[in-house]
Amino acid sequence: MKTKKILVSTIFASLIYVLFVSFTHNPKDEYEALQQKKWVAPASADKIVNPLKGDATAAASGKKTYKMLCFVCHGPKGKGDGMGGAGLTPKPTDLTTEEFQSQSDGAIFWKITEGRAPMASYKTSIPEKKRWELVNYLRTLQQ
Ligand code: HEC
Repeated sequence: MKTKKILVSTIFASLIYVLFVSFTHNPKDEYEALQQKKWVAPASADKIVNPLKGDATAAASGKKTYKMLCFVCHGPKGKGDGMGGAGLTPKPTDLTTEEFQSQSDGAIFWKITEGRAPMASYKTSIPEKKRWELVNYLRTLQQ
C-alpha cells in the first residue's frame, strides 16, 4: 500500500515537473535571443587587407553580384528592406548606416564569407575576388 502511494506521488511530481519545464523553457525564445545578439567579426578579421581597396571598377562589378544575390534581402539601396527579408529574424542589416560602415573592410569581408543564419555563408558560392568587389560596392552605399 505504501509503495503504491510513493509511486503515485512520484508520477504526480514528474508530471508537474514536465509541465513546468514546458512552460518556462521555450527553445524558440532562446534561439531568437541568440540571434538578436549583435554580430561582431573576430579581431583577426580586421587584419585582412582589401586587395581591391579604392578600385571603383571593382565596386561596379560588385554591384552586379549584389543585384543577383543580395538585393532580395538587403534591398535595392542596401537599407535592409528587400522583399525576401521581410519575414526574417533578425532582419537583414541596413548596410548604409554609420554603425555598419564603421567596420573594417576585413570584418565585412569576413561576414560575407562566413554568413550567419538566416544569411548564408558565401565562402564557396562566391569567389574571393567577387567577395572583395562586394565589399567595395557596399562602401558606396554610405549615407
Ligand atoms: C536570405 C536573406 C539574405 C541574403 C540573400 C543576404 N543577406 Fe546579408 N544578411 C541577412 C541577415 C538576416 C543579416 C543579419 C544577420 C545577423 O545579424 O545575424 C545579414 C547581414 C549581413 C552583413 C553583416 C552586417 C553586420 O555588420 O552585422 C553583411 C556584410 C551582409 N549581410 C552582406 C550581404 C551580401 C554581400 C549578400 C549577397 C552576397 C547578402 N548579405 C545576402 C540576410 C541576407
